[in-house]
Amino acid sequence: MEKRYIDILEPDDWHVHLREGSILSTVLPFTYKSFASALIMPNLETPVTNISLAETYYSEICRQIPREIKFTPHMTLYLTSHLSKQQIINVSTHQYIKAIKMYPKGATTNSDSGFSNIIELYPLFEVMEKYGVILSIHGEVTNEKVDVFEREKVFIETILTQIINNFPNLRIVLEHITSADAVNFIKEQKKLAATITNHHLMVNRNIMLSKGIRPNFYCAPILKTEEDRLALVQAAISGNGKFFLGTDSAPHVDSKKVSSCGCAGIFSSPLAIPLLIQLFEDHSSLNKIENFISRNGRAFYGLNQHNERVRYVKRSNPVDAIKNIKTNQGEITVFNPYDELYWEKEN
Ligand code: NCD
Ligand code: ZN
Repeated sequence: MEKRYIDILEPDDWHVHLREGSILSTVLPFTYKSFASALIMPNLETPVTNISLAETYYSEICRQIPREIKFTPHMTLYLTSHLSKQQIINVSTHQYIKAIKMYPKGATTNSDSGFSNIIELYPLFEVMEKYGVILSIHGEVTNEKVDVFEREKVFIETILTQIINNFPNLRIVLEHITSADAVNFIKEQKKLAATITNHHLMVNRNIMLSKGIRPNFYCAPILKTEEDRLALVQAAISGNGKFFLGTDSAPHVDSKKVSSCGCAGIFSSPLAIPLLIQLFEDHSSLNKIENFISRNGRAFYGLNQHNERVRYVKRSNPVDAIKNIKTNQGEITVFNPYDELYWEKEN
């Protein structure tokens, strides 16, 4: 008989944007109800560029987690050339700061403080390599002469290759990979791993652009072809330890997305796990889902594996899936590309 439930080791989200203030309060429960831990991105309006800012942000998040909830926020620093070497050394033994995130200037939301000259960061990469601090990368070039669909590929061929050649022992996570090229590159590199989002696994650029423009599928890096999507699915269901879930859930209110100049970012936390279960089931790969959502990321980040499981049940009829959430700045659409979703967490 078809399986009606699945018990999964608690999942982690290795890339999430929780924002601040009232948006943080509204979106945080969707992360702590679905995940045991999450790596929280530092691209706030005032970027989290040093340890003290990360500690303040961490406290703001922890204050909003009810006592009965077991959830671990892992923090990141936003890399700028002003970061001191001593701060990097301190990160290497910090209790909850787990990575330093590098954004190319202008690549995405709140990336104005990102780098424009990679060489300026070399002295910092040297310290990160020596002390085993993980570099998390938004991998796109921002040169306006490079086509938007080629920006990840060009980043990999130029900047990422250069970083790896100069710092072969630097541990790197290439975030939210989008293409077959990226999958192949990751597999070949010893110290490199990658996060993959729900949306890059489930939708392609046709869905965003071919039957009317759908701003709710617009994100950075931009969705690629169906062939690319299928390569990402193969990477995720393979169980290969180099690939793990980072939802890149990035809430923007609808009025900022459905606009003449809409923001990049897809809010996917609420249904991330049930959608992934359905995807893995459709590919007869439920036996590999724990690698992707619960084990591989922890192994890469050097954390103990979970031993508690959570149960998801499969309903006979489609569930009444959440469509949007209300915030005091407007509604935010929840990512769900499936007409029918059958899985939900057991209460
Ligand atoms: C993210 C955001 O809105 O903060 N947007 C996105 O499209 N993914 C930033 C990012 O991770 O690029
Ligand atoms: Zn992101």
